[in-house]
Amino acid sequence: MRIVLCGFGVVGQSLVKLFDSRSEDLYVKYGLKPRIVGVVDSKGSAVDPSGLEFNKLVEVKKKFGTVKNYANTKNAMSGIDILKNIEADVLIETTASNYKDAEPGMTHITTAMKKGLHVISVNKGPLALAFPSLMELATYNQVMLKFSGTVGGGTPILDYAKNSLSGERITAFSGILNGTTNYILSNMSTGLSFDEALKDAKDRGYVEADESLDLDGLDAAAKLVILANWIMGMKVTMPDINCTGIRKVSTEDIKKAAKNNCSVKLIASCNKELVVGPKEVSNDDPLCVNGTLNAIAFTSEHSGTQTIIGRGAGGMETASSILRDLLDIRQEIAKT
Ligand code: HSE
Repeated sequence: MRIVLCGFGVVGQSLVKLFDSRSEDLYVKYGLKPRIVGVVDSKGSAVDPSGLEFNKLVEVKKKFGTVKNYANTKNAMSGIDILKNIEADVLIETTASNYKDAEPGMTHITTAMKKGLHVISVNKGPLALAFPSLMELATYNQVMLKFSGTVGGGTPILDYAKNSLSGERITAFSGILNGTTNYILSNMSTGLSFDEALKDAKDRGYVEADESLDLDGLDAAAKLVILANWIMGMKVTMPDINCTGIRKVSTEDIKKAAKNNCSVKLIASCNKELVVGPKEVSNDDPLCVNGTLNAIAFTSEHSGTQTIIGRGAGGMETASSILRDLLDIRQEIAKT
């Protein structure tokens, strides 16, 4: 399987490490032989149609901060150049999510699909801004667009709702989809102020480079868009979400909730309306998880409410979701 990897941050590097450590078992168990023919990061790229060496990629990135030193090529190709000129089967898009124009991920994804590549995206931006049209483009070009890692990281939230509950009619869902704000709110319930809890979350490296994505609810809203489209068959994008973040949650709000045996959580919900906002949740509710955990409760017509809990972020966790998507693609291709 020839892969172009766009974005080589924590997730991209974790994926390459995963390929390296699992190469034998992936081949023996699943017949999967990932061959990375191009990698792009923010400073340059590395290309080899016969396959880049996994451990060398990681070492070069660690040493120079970019993959462009992988070989002595003068004119590094851009992601678009690679997608247009190098033969490949799958694009794995891991560049940072942005909710203004979704670039550069959007152009990577559309270019790849138009050229007939299957796409795995853990970048939420393009899906949050254009889910319906990207799905149409995938269908039109007869390619698969997979995005397991966009919601719940390594916790298979999308697969659970789509496949494990298949045949059921999910009527509503709600959940904690952002680990950083959950960490901050959990710490505020132990007495820390918002600023102290935010600083602690930053010190631990949890907060996105653009803190607004976490604090103003944009990350949770993007995940809600993806769930609403994929699970509920809606055709919605970011502007359809009624979104409030956690900046205005005070210590008083947290204390008031505690008196009612509740905690304040940033809840993303789909129940007639699509809403992200702080809400009191009973401490006895399975949804009421603490720290960086994510949790989501699906309510379906005949099976009642089921809650999934798990880690919603992390390099290796998200890399494992990419591997899951890759194996699905491998299986689908093998059928044809
Ligand atoms: N900033 C996100 C979170 C990372 O805190 O959950 C995963 O999307």
